[in-house]
Amino acid sequence: MRCLVTGTAGFVGFHLARRLIADGHEVVGVDGMTPYYDVRLKEDRVAQLERHNAFQAHRCMLEDWSSLAGIFREARPELVVHLAAQAGVRYSLENPRAYIDSNVTGSFNVLELCRELRPRHLVMASTSSAYGASATFPLAETGSTDHPLTIYAATKKSMETMAHSYAHLWDIPTTVFRFFTAYGPWGRPDMALFKFVEAILAGRQIDIYNHGRMERDFTYIDDLVEGIARLCETVPARGATRIAATDSLSPVAPYRIVNIGGGHPVSLLRFVEAIEQALGRKAERNYMDMQPGDVLRTEASTELLEALIGFRPATPIETGVAEFVRWYRDYYRV
Ligand SMILES: NC(=O)c1ccc[n+]([C@@H]2O[C@H](COP(=O)([O-])OP(=O)(O)OC[C@H]3O[C@@H](n4cnc5c(N)ncnc54)[C@H](O)[C@@H]3O)[C@@H](O)[C@H]2O)c1
Repeated sequence: MRCLVTGTAGFVGFHLARRLIADGHEVVGVDGMTPYYDVRLKEDRVAQLERHNAFQAHRCMLEDWSSLAGIFREARPELVVHLAAQAGVRYSLENPRAYIDSNVTGSFNVLELCRELRPRHLVMASTSSAYGASATFPLAETGSTDHPLTIYAATKKSMETMAHSYAHLWDIPTTVFRFFTAYGPWGRPDMALFKFVEAILAGRQIDIYNHGRMERDFTYIDDLVEGIARLCETVPARGATRIAATDSLSPVAPYRIVNIGGGHPVSLLRFVEAIEQALGRKAERNYMDMQPGDVLRTEASTELLEALIGFRPATPIETGVAEFVRWYRDYYRV
């Protein structure tokens, strides 16, 4: 298949592109190499991908309509995987405009190009943050997303709803994924695992929000990629029968939202212990209050994911954290 993947210099896009190439697909990657975090890490990911003939990289911002259109028109993709975004919950309080530009305007441009080029399947990344203030656990795709807590969540929800209208009007089969705290090798420097490992190795304190009283449904990157790869082959059809009580299949469009999470929330303190164990060092803990925009707990309903692809993320946190630490020590030579 000819695949166009946005965000291939990013954490998830890099791993997914590797998987698609290994499965025998051609991948055209688009990434604007934004300076939100260390661009060298992004360049190193792209350099790994460029070892493969089946990969072609383009440096382009999603908001740059004419350049983006040129890349899409040349690629004529059968599968579009839209992962590029301004990610991060906390930074959205500092720089909300970046989220509107990338996640709303940028995603709109991707939708317009799908309308023109008609891929067999458009898949796009949303987030567990879309559930916002919802506290009905596990978080199901059919549950409420009416109360986003940050502009990050609000822009992702906007992307979801824009995509639904395009799927309805122009018959573009579309699957939206809601990811739950992905982690693993080549991970993001703005996320807790990276920051904690960096700080502990440097002998600095780690900030533990809400005094550790938080839980996250962490998803190991290989599990996430397995879920994405299988869902890329699972194309929603207009008017099909729902396959689970939580099936979010639209009644008026070939459009579905699917959680990719394992449904096993881990407490922040157990997470820190797994890091200490993998590093063989104790962390100096700085207990802090809850941060604005944060949620106490995430827990994915996995019913729909399992019904669709017969798989759910299951890598234990201790195993995944150890893999990250192995990569971190090797990459940064510490
Ligand atoms: N990693 C997670 O835990 C997680 C959780 C929920 C949702 N998501 C979503 O999954 C997707 C991938 O996330 P990630 O963790 O790989 O993040 P990432 O920041 O590592 O990757 C995103 C990539 O998109 C690129 N990008 C950003 N804005 C762009 C723009 N306007 N034009 C072109 N390129 C742009 C960046 O340069 C980056 O390489 C994102 O849509 C994110 O919102 C991730």
